[in-house]
Amino acid sequence: MNTVKSVRELRAAIAQARADGKQIGFVPTMGNLHAGHAALVEKAAQRADFVVASIFVNPLQFGPHEDLDKYPRSLAADQKKLIEAGCQLLFNPEVAEMYPHGMQGQTIVSVPDVSQGLCGGSRPGHFDGVATVVTKLFNMVQPDLAVFGQKDFQQLAVIRALVRDLNIPVQIIGEPTVRAEDGLALSSRNGYLSAEQRAAAPALYRSLEQIAQALRGGERDVAGLLDTARQQQIAAGFRPDYLELREANSLRPASAQDRQLVILAAAFIGNTRLIDNLALELDAIH
Ligand code: PAF
Repeated sequence: MNTVKSVRELRAAIAQARADGKQIGFVPTMGNLHAGHAALVEKAAQRADFVVASIFVNPLQFGPHEDLDKYPRSLAADQKKLIEAGCQLLFNPEVAEMYPHGMQGQTIVSVPDVSQGLCGGSRPGHFDGVATVVTKLFNMVQPDLAVFGQKDFQQLAVIRALVRDLNIPVQIIGEPTVRAEDGLALSSRNGYLSAEQRAAAPALYRSLEQIAQALRGGERDVAGLLDTARQQQIAAGFRPDYLELREANSLRPASAQDRQLVILAAAFIGNTRLIDNLALELDAIH
């Protein structure tokens, strides 16, 4: 695997792969890779001949009081994992390479509707930062396909919308969340958890499973179910940020007719904010 730091080297390596008749698969990341990222790279390697990954901790998507400075950086370990998963080219730019004119005057890509509420409500500007950097990366790499994790469910919806609205010729593939044996969704931020917090953390997904189980069993008091789940999270040591039932494709609040649903949650345990979701298909809610 070749690691490049400049857009010029990136484009040259991809031009060579294209000249060799290869289809390009792309996995953008912020590094500190785990088995969830490996699954994205493996999916790209199944679907494309030449896999490009990026590692870039994008300052534009972090709020002023978020964890940009302490976001874990582990390049050597990440490179090893990428090679094992089938990546051929790593793009690892500095901030000045991605934003050579600074971030102040940067053109911003802002996706309406699906960016609203949920993480977009709790982290103002976050999805503008994500949409902007992903658009830039797509223009740099020009992949045939790109793979994103369904754990960031709203992010995936934002990226699908921007690709559709801006006619970017890339196929977006959503890959299921990889979980630890106890159900906790793998996340780079799990590394912030103390042993005690890590032991409590699976309660977040369990609370979503209980809502899903009740809905599948015919319970339709959505507000009551969400409230009970919130109490379960609090009892486990979480401070809930949001917990909502939404229509899975549009991400608008679920209505009685909707069958494709997603339960989305964000909650703090100590200072660490974890997110998770559970998609389900139902008979109509009456
Ligand atoms: O999901 C992430 O790691 C980031 O939001 C992404 C898509 C790499 C953009 O910085």
